[in-house]
Amino acid sequence: LSSLVSKQEQQKMVNVAHRGASGHAPENTMAAFQKGFEMKADYIEIDVQMTKDGELVAIHDTTVDRTTNGTGAVGDLTFEEIRQLDAGSWFGPEFAGEKVPTFEEILDGFRGKTGVLIELKAPELYPGIEEKVAEALIERNMHRPNNAKIIIQSFNHGSMQTSKELLPNIPHGVLAGMSWANVTDEQLAEFATYADYFNPNMNIVTHELVAGVHAADMRIFPYTSRSQEQAFRLFDLGVDGIITDFPEHVYKHPVFN
Ligand code: G3P
Ligand code: CA
Repeated sequence: LSSLVSKQEQQKMVNVAHRGASGHAPENTMAAFQKGFEMKADYIEIDVQMTKDGELVAIHDTTVDRTTNGTGAVGDLTFEEIRQLDAGSWFGPEFAGEKVPTFEEILDGFRGKTGVLIELKAPELYPGIEEKVAEALIERNMHRPNNAKIIIQSFNHGSMQTSKELLPNIPHGVLAGMSWANVTDEQLAEFATYADYFNPNMNIVTHELVAGVHAADMRIFPYTSRSQEQAFRLFDLGVDGIITDFPEHVYKHPVFN
C-alpha cells in the first residue's frame, strides 16, 4: 500500500465519530470531538440545537437533563444558563467541567482537522435554525466543498430541503429510522433530488438497500455502530461510511491490516 494514500482512503470507508468519539468521552463535548480527531475519524458527528436566545449549541437530547447537571429544555434556557452546566461529569470525573460547545466553536476548532457531519436535531422546534447554520458556514467561507468537509443531515427531511436551498454546494443527508425499512426506489429517487446521503438505522441495512441507495446516486452512512461485530457487518455490506461511537472498530477490519 502506498504511504501517500491512507489505507482508509483506498478503501473509501468513511469513519464518522458519532457525537464525537462518544464511546470514550462525553458525547457532544470538545473532549469527545478532540478524541475523534485524535483517533483519525474522517468526520465528527454533532447534534445542533438552538438556545432560547438563538445561540447554536451541540447537544443530543432536547432537554439538558441526561448529559448535564441541569434540567430543562434546550430551547427554554439561555446560552448563559446552558454554558454554566457541566456536560462531562456524568461520563466520568475526569471530564468534570466540560461545557456544552457552541456550533461556531466546533467549526473554528476543527476546521482543516476533520470533517463535520452536522445533524440538525429536532429543527421543527427551532424555526430559522437552517438560516443560522448557513450564516455561520458562509461567514467562514465553509459553504464550498473545496474549503471545508461539511455534510448536513436530519431526520426532518423538509428541513434538509430548506437547508439545501440555502447551501446548494454543501452535501445533505436524510436520516432514516426503522420505519424506512421498506423504502422504495421511488422514494430514494425523491430524496436524491436534494440529498446526497441516505443515512439509515444500521438495522435496516441490507445488500439490496445499499444497491438501491447507490442506484439513486447517493451514499450511505448507517448509524450507530457500537460493537466490533456491527462495524464489520456494515463494512461487509458495502456501505460508504460508518457512524460509530468507537472509530477504532472500523480500522480493525481485515482490509486495513
Ligand atoms: O448520525 C446519525 C445519528 O446520530 C442519528 O441518531 O439519535 O444518535 O442523533 P442520534
Ligand atoms: Ca446525531
